[in-house]
Amino acid sequence: MTDSVNLQQEQLTLWLNKAVSKVDRMIYEIGDKSPHVSAAGVYDDMRVDWWTSGFWPGMLWVLHDMTGNDRYRHTAWGWDARIEQCFVADNNLHHDVGFQFLPTAVIKHKLTGDEDARRRALAAANFLAGRFNLNGRFLRAWNQEKTGWAIIDSMMNLSLLFWASEEIADPRFRQIACAHADTVLKHFIREDGSVHHIVAFDPESGEVDEYLGGQGYAPYSSWSRGQAWALYGMAIACRYTGDIRYLRAAQRAAHYFLSCLPEDHVPHWDFRTPDPLSQPRDTSAASCAASGLLEIAGLLSAEEGRIYRQAAESILKSLTQHYSSLDEPVYQGLLREGTGNKPANQNVNVSLIYGDYFYVETICKLLGWRNRVF
Ligand code: GLY
Repeated sequence: MTDSVNLQQEQLTLWLNKAVSKVDRMIYEIGDKSPHVSAAGVYDDMRVDWWTSGFWPGMLWVLHDMTGNDRYRHTAWGWDARIEQCFVADNNLHHDVGFQFLPTAVIKHKLTGDEDARRRALAAANFLAGRFNLNGRFLRAWNQEKTGWAIIDSMMNLSLLFWASEEIADPRFRQIACAHADTVLKHFIREDGSVHHIVAFDPESGEVDEYLGGQGYAPYSSWSRGQAWALYGMAIACRYTGDIRYLRAAQRAAHYFLSCLPEDHVPHWDFRTPDPLSQPRDTSAASCAASGLLEIAGLLSAEEGRIYRQAAESILKSLTQHYSSLDEPVYQGLLREGTGNKPANQNVNVSLIYGDYFYVETICKLLGWRNRVF
């Protein structure tokens, strides 16, 4: 190892240790709450069927695996059962059961062999597979009236289907995941690598009705977290299938993302707004993209992957130096300046639990962590 790599490992370890200290304090303060947004240094308590409920326990599972500390395992242990309870109550569970059960049930089973966790994850995979629209070949995203809506975020949930196929040696889940990923290739990812957030299909014919801006600025803009979901999700699809088309799509989305970054490597919430540099940042898009860029790097030769790894490191460094609260022990949240939903003016300039999760995930991957579930 060269000196600089040693230095880098030391640096990463320092950042991880600081994050761990903060999480140790947050465990006491957060208790049974389901943290989602920290607007003034205090995490809220969101309903457990909300798409973000898996990230706090997920971060604890990652830290348990990294440190061997049973405290994190103990605190994370009951979360998959807690989320599962939503299925037997009035709920709004949807395609994001991937985000909810991958960093809880799947990782719990992976790390501990717990059979109940496996059962819960397989039930969630069945629920997700049941949202497949046969004519449109997409996974229905949300509930209520949005019968024909598919969204780029679903790419991250495909891991649950790929995992289930491998787990029970049944190709159906993988077939559905690939069909959805192919639809994303065809209808979401534009030639320049930018992506749509929402494509509304006619749920009967499966034809495209319209493109919608969703959490982005406009139908043909480029929501930065959507770009991150795309580059990470397409890399996952290639990792599970070996299909090079998905890798190339991940690279296109990544190149577009990287070409739009401002000087400090942390994106604004949408890359195509009238006055982009004056817009709020989204640190969650940055941390998710950084982790996804490492996935792309891992699918390439060391030489080809270098630019993606370097980009991930540049993003991580800037996040840590300019946007983190690692040196503020009482502030709950690891990254400041996340943007949840700018068009709705919801959760702008806050800490977001998924931004924190992917930040920790990125540090751990750079330190050699391999037990990922996305
Ligand atoms: N998956 C919802 C979001 O990224 O805000």
